[in-house]
Amino acid sequence: MDREHCGNFLRTRMKMQKGISRVLRSTKFLFGRYWEHSKAFVVLILLLNLILSAIPLIIAWTTRSFVDQLAGMTQDSSDWIPNSLFLLALCLVGFLFMQDYLSILLSYLDERKGRNLLVQTKMAVYERIGSFGGIQLFEQPAFFDLLRMVMHSAQSGHQQVFQTLLRTCRNVVLLLAFALAILSYSPLILLVIAISTLPQITNHLHSNHENKQLDSEIGPHERNAYYLEHLLTNSSTIKEILALGIGSHLRNDLQNRLLMIASFMIHSERKRLKTSTTNRVLIGIAQGLSLLIITAMVSTREIGVGDVAFLIAGSQGILSATIGILEGFSLIHSQSLYFEDYEKLVNLVDPIITGGSRKKMSGLLGEIRFEGVSFRYSTNLPWVLRDVELSIRAGESTAIVGQNGSGKSTLIRLLLRLYDPTCGTIYWDGVDVREFPVEDYRKTIGVMFQDYARYQLTVRENIGFGDIENIHEIGRISRAARLSGADNVVQGLSNNYETVLSKWNTQENGGVDISGGEWQKIALARLLMREASLYILDEPTSNLDASSETAFNKGFSENKRGKTFLISSHRLSSIMMADNVALLRDGKITDYGPPQRLLNSSELFFPLEQRESFSERTDSL
Ligand SMILES: Nc1ncnc2c1ncn2[C@@H]1O[C@H](COP(=O)(O)OP(=O)(O)O)[C@@H](O)[C@H]1O
Ligand SMILES: [Mg+2]
Repeated sequence: MDREHCGNFLRTRMKMQKGISRVLRSTKFLFGRYWEHSKAFVVLILLLNLILSAIPLIIAWTTRSFVDQLAGMTQDSSDWIPNSLFLLALCLVGFLFMQDYLSILLSYLDERKGRNLLVQTKMAVYERIGSFGGIQLFEQPAFFDLLRMVMHSAQSGHQQVFQTLLRTCRNVVLLLAFALAILSYSPLILLVIAISTLPQITNHLHSNHENKQLDSEIGPHERNAYYLEHLLTNSSTIKEILALGIGSHLRNDLQNRLLMIASFMIHSERKRLKTSTTNRVLIGIAQGLSLLIITAMVSTREIGVGDVAFLIAGSQGILSATIGILEGFSLIHSQSLYFEDYEKLVNLVDPIITGGSRKKMSGLLGEIRFEGVSFRYSTNLPWVLRDVELSIRAGESTAIVGQNGSGKSTLIRLLLRLYDPTCGTIYWDGVDVREFPVEDYRKTIGVMFQDYARYQLTVRENIGFGDIENIHEIGRISRAARLSGADNVVQGLSNNYETVLSKWNTQENGGVDISGGEWQKIALARLLMREASLYILDEPTSNLDASSETAFNKGFSENKRGKTFLISSHRLSSIMMADNVALLRDGKITDYGPPQRLLNSSELFFPLEQRESFSERTDSL
């Protein structure tokens, strides 16, 4: 039993030590941020706080003198009220006013600073995320949960904690001042209050850890609920939801998730209620005992009525300061758990080496070579690419063909360094691509993804994003649109290139929505906007109708000369226009050569031909 007690004591002590060091660390972090942002603000705030922390004691003293004078007056039984009593009453009102007004002023000042810091913190997080070279982290749910928690603490945390921190400092000053004053009357009152508050410290620490644990348990449910809410309100998904009549199914799912989150929260609130009740009972006992002690002191004539007023105000002051300190400590502690998330996020290691050791990145002169490239998305997933050997020669067009899931898009992601190969190397004119700074490297490549983005912005931005430095060059934008066939789309729009491609993201009803094929032409124009050493097109014609595809193929044949293309496509016509075709099967390159030779020799073309004729038949319907 003794050993058990000892163990409990040690655990509590360790918890407290850890808690205190956490609070100190986050205090340092936070003060550092405010100090960096504005030194004058911090000095002003500290000064106001110092004044504010002295006021309650002054009020208590003034009350004591006021009550004493009042008592003296009733004993004198004189009719007139002395001037000094008026003065004391005036002072009392003045101090009470100052106490309230300074609090209001402080919270305004802090709100102002907090708002600016919130923007700064959010931008720091986005900058950090933006500095990740690859997309691996974005595909991990744990990353999203972390991000959510960091944003949550950024939203409320900084400002709330700073305010609490100052209030806690104020309470410490107040507590010490009252404690010293009361000590001269009765150490017993102090002892009673101290004993009643000790168990509350561990209660607070414990519930903070539980809340943090709760947040991580709720995380996946909130993520899913958020996704379902997005599905149910998004214009691109709602049409299918209505057509398929799956709304109530999704709503049920959402309801279950929300109920799950609610039950977690209610459970936690119930625990909080229990802790708060215990804490409040302890405070009540302390208040009762203090009153008893004061009454005993009055009965033995140790103190007068003014002292009684002071002692009641003082012991109440000590209690509320202590509760304030405990709650403040608890809040800072709980936020410090979130600050740890912030640090975790800021210190996340991006698996892509972004810096590179080479300063110069030249255009492609010879070839890009995949040497023994193997890849899997994670160690517990199967290999997607296996020992890929492939050459993409400068000035030629290379097509990758393979069934769905054979790894074409993955190969493109590796080439773009959105992931790095698990084994093997990709060489750019003989240099390992990891040696180039990733931003410079990507500037030399133009890409159109299979699942390209549809920016709900103007046509000009949608195309100009292909070469952000020339986003205002309308001549270049219209040339790219002409090449991709998007100019026909633009001609039909009321504001031409300034038309917003969104029904939703406009101030007035100026936006439009366009068809899937039209979006693809815009995406293609975005790719063609860039002067690149290598153009990558992942299934570029999958959404185009037969005539648009013919136009694309014609444009491609006319423009491909001298440029380096890598195309993945299941359309035979696109493949036939390439100089070389690589067949990808189960993650391996199984054949490579000119399309004509492969058309006759490879068994892979057979099902493709079937699919082609099928798609031609459906296109002509
Ligand atoms: N982000 C990812 N995480 C895990 N597996 C993935 C991911 N993306 C694709 N895959 C898997 O990798 C394989 C190849 O996919 P992909 O390269 O998109 O094929 P393709 O473009 O040839 O259709 C598929 O089995 C797919 O399920
Ligand atoms: Mg693909």
